[in-house]
Amino acid sequence: MTASRPPASSDPRRPVSPAGGPAASPDADPPVSPGARPRPDAEDAAASPEDRTWLERARRLGRAGWGQVQPNPMVGCVLVKDGRVVGEGHHARYGGPHAEVLALETAGEAARGATAYVSLEPCAHHGKTPPCTRALLQAGVRRVVYGAADPGAESGGGGAALAAAGVDVVGPVWSEEEARAENPEFFHRLRHGTPWVALKLAMTLDARISAGPGLRTRITGPEAEREVHRLRSGFGAVVVGSGTARADDPRLTVREAPPGRVPPRRMVLDPEALLAPDAALLREGGAHAGPVDVFVAPDADGARVRRLRDAGAQVHPVPRSPEGLELGVVLETCSALGVGSLLCEGGQALAASFLRERRAHRLYLFVAPRTLGGEGLPAFTTDAGALDWRAARPAAPPELFGPDALLVYDLDGD
Ligand SMILES: NC(=O)c1ccc[n+]([C@@H]2O[C@H](COP(=O)([O-])OP(=O)(O)OC[C@H]3O[C@@H](n4cnc5c(N)ncnc54)[C@H](OP(=O)(O)O)[C@@H]3O)[C@@H](O)[C@H]2O)c1
Repeated sequence: MTASRPPASSDPRRPVSPAGGPAASPDADPPVSPGARPRPDAEDAAASPEDRTWLERARRLGRAGWGQVQPNPMVGCVLVKDGRVVGEGHHARYGGPHAEVLALETAGEAARGATAYVSLEPCAHHGKTPPCTRALLQAGVRRVVYGAADPGAESGGGGAALAAAGVDVVGPVWSEEEARAENPEFFHRLRHGTPWVALKLAMTLDARISAGPGLRTRITGPEAEREVHRLRSGFGAVVVGSGTARADDPRLTVREAPPGRVPPRRMVLDPEALLAPDAALLREGGAHAGPVDVFVAPDADGARVRRLRDAGAQVHPVPRSPEGLELGVVLETCSALGVGSLLCEGGQALAASFLRERRAHRLYLFVAPRTLGGEGLPAFTTDAGALDWRAARPAAPPELFGPDALLVYDLDGD
């Protein structure tokens, strides 16, 4: 390994890949030391443009694990020999084989002398599966190029182990921002131990999220809707404010995309416990509907709280804040419930609170080519404490879903 950083990946404002963040549980694999930080981009990288192209393919393969591998990271691997792909694979199932092992299986003998492109540094430890470093060595892989360093206290260090065994190792090729953007929940958990939060809003060109306060308004089309359901499948929980629960009566389930490994919990911040016991959230059951959590104020009406519990909700009393409920305590409760990532789906007041308190780490903004005019409810408030937009950097290239555009931004301080 050489000692300089690849200039092309060190620009934090450079758009990086779309990604998302999956949901956590306490028995994460690989084990990590609390508070561990991603290793700096120390070892480099004489990564050629061709290396980066193959690594990009590995990254895209890894994304197929969205919703299925949490709380593990999404990882893809491509084995290349003489300019030709001889094997590839991705981590497809929590507890299942790692990407490298699947790629080696598909390559068979052809892996001997090949280059392995892996989006995450190969693991060096025996977790739920044996170390990938051992599998790569046994298969006779000559060179390994990896995108992100594995900061895991036990799983990390695979690059150095391979180099010590005589393999030509190049990595980490990606900047920290790029690595985090690909597996945000994974890296956030290692750094902070708290849920990673994304905020999703559907808005018009004039930045309105509904025709007016309390009005249910369809903003985006079915393609965007399907993408929202796909995103949900990779989160540990989906949350809305009581205003949205009342206006939209949402189910917050994954219906228009393949279900994830664990259905996301469905949460409402409802200080006065006003959610109707026959709300769609509470009526919707079955294997693909996650549990319902209602956060209420400690002094919420006892009879209403009992009705919600009788209707199947788990009710969590949380201290009041000037805007409603203390988001910090809500997030602590999420952690205690094993939720590693939270998708906030509005509405305006709750979104503003997450942004004002700097508790949102990513924005998914679906923009529809229409306007709603001055009567419409603005997506963003402009009060003094509102978000500093200079802190937002593109986390993915803009993408079209039917007529609607998706913009993804990561916010500083992940
Ligand atoms: N286009 C979109 O992406 C989208 C998404 C969602 C909603 N919407 C629209 O947005 C509108 C609803 O938005 P909204 O602003 O009226 O309601 P909201 O943000 O959904 O809910 C706000 C309420 O949540 C409760 N809350 C608890 N803790 C809070 C906190 N820390 N910060 C803020 N609120 C907290 C409060 O309930 P109490 O009042 O009981 O104290 C507060 O009034 C509807 O028209 C809906 O259709 C659009």
